[in-house]
Amino acid sequence: MSRQRWSSRTVFLLAALGSALGLGNVWRFPYLAGKYGGGAFLLPYLIALVLVGIPMLMLEFAIGQKMQRGAIDCFRKLHGRFAGLGIYTLVTSFIICAYYVVVMAWCLLYFLASFGVKWSGNAKNFFYQDILQVSESVSNLGGINWSVLLALLVVWIAIYFCVWKGTESVGKVVQYSVPLPVILLGVLLLRAVTLPGFQEGWRMYLSPTWSALIDPEVWTAAFSQTFYTLSLAFGIMIAYGSYKEDGEDIARDSWLTTLFNTAISLLAGFVVFGILGYMAWQTKTPITELAASGPGLAFVVFPEALSLMPLPGLFSVLFFLMLFSLGIDSAFSLVEALNAAILDRHPQFKTAKVSLWVCLAGFVAGIIFTTRAGLYLLDIADHFTTNYNLMLIGIFQAILVGWIYGAEKLRRYIDRVSDWQVGKWWNVSIKFIIPAVLMGLLATQLTTDIRKPYEGYPAWALGMGWAIVLLPLLYFLFSILKDRNLSEYEQT
Ligand code: PHE
Repeated sequence: MSRQRWSSRTVFLLAALGSALGLGNVWRFPYLAGKYGGGAFLLPYLIALVLVGIPMLMLEFAIGQKMQRGAIDCFRKLHGRFAGLGIYTLVTSFIICAYYVVVMAWCLLYFLASFGVKWSGNAKNFFYQDILQVSESVSNLGGINWSVLLALLVVWIAIYFCVWKGTESVGKVVQYSVPLPVILLGVLLLRAVTLPGFQEGWRMYLSPTWSALIDPEVWTAAFSQTFYTLSLAFGIMIAYGSYKEDGEDIARDSWLTTLFNTAISLLAGFVVFGILGYMAWQTKTPITELAASGPGLAFVVFPEALSLMPLPGLFSVLFFLMLFSLGIDSAFSLVEALNAAILDRHPQFKTAKVSLWVCLAGFVAGIIFTTRAGLYLLDIADHFTTNYNLMLIGIFQAILVGWIYGAEKLRRYIDRVSDWQVGKWWNVSIKFIIPAVLMGLLATQLTTDIRKPYEGYPAWALGMGWAIVLLPLLYFLFSILKDRNLSEYEQT
């Protein structure tokens, strides 16, 4: 059977960009910038993009395209002992997918609530009590929250119809779902600059607190945000690359994806801080307090800000529609990463059927996050997967390509197919900078977590977090012992 293909280069770019654009741009990036020195955060962030983001994105596009396989078989073709790294990657992607879609379900509920701006006056209560009905601690699961579960089901059905025909259906969807949120962001930007007080927000966003640059935590945040925002180490960009023809351009596509993604993050920052500036003006609250609200930014502070402006219903609908359409391509790109690996193994299976099973499994796995302790469990799963699994996968991926397969060999391939040439600096980044930086991040995180249990959660709950990190890691490390180099791959 012939491999699925993107119908055009633009469609590929839209799909890759769709995966990159997500909650990470509109919610995570602005809150990190708010927390870590405003304009001063931009510098470490841009450095991180150039030093590790772009080289890693090129690596993933390149190995996917060269090997014409999803994560598991791609790693195996790079070296017979590394198929287990693919399993580690996909287990991680599956867990992230399970909870990411739950956040999408919250977006959907907020979208519906937008029509009456139901949270106005008590946004905090609305989020924790009305939407999540959160229990007092992680130890009290408190049963399932049926409205979230129903919303979860609806989002999964939507995802299924995006991916059911593989690149064919994804290709159609991204032509709308990628431009739409960008246009909506533009509309929200126009709204922001016509509100009083927006300049105050922008000032806070752009004015650099230079002392932040000597804080190692700022650098850690910048580097991990780079991975998250470019969807790296999920097996996604490998799968997407594998649906391109062997000779297609890699370097330019990597630069374009990164440039657009960064532009959208910066734009989102202007929208979010502009509207927070207005809120500060309205409520006479210092803007620094609003901006540093952390993860509550998207679901508490921002909805409240929306409720304060003229036509609150309209702008809330636009905002949550924007968030939803921005996130859905990230969610289904995770499904695609899993599908690609399964279909490599079982080419006789129908794409529609594999998609159905993956979506069903993702839905079932997500149920745990719809309990009344779901928020805590989600927080724990997110903490461990993004800070440990993704970093570890990034390190192994860089070592596998840089030291075992050969960075220079892959670079020559990239140069052969690309218009823009990649210099030798790329080898340096893959072989030295990426492993060193990621190991540094890992060590910093580990010391923090050992010194102080994350968010004071009980040991059993954190134990589950460690299990998510260690079980698939051990599986991978043991699988290295066995060389699974199949003869059919030997010619490559
Ligand atoms: N790149 C996505 C974002 O910025 C993050 C993401 C992608 C998360 C894919 C999960 C899966 O939101």
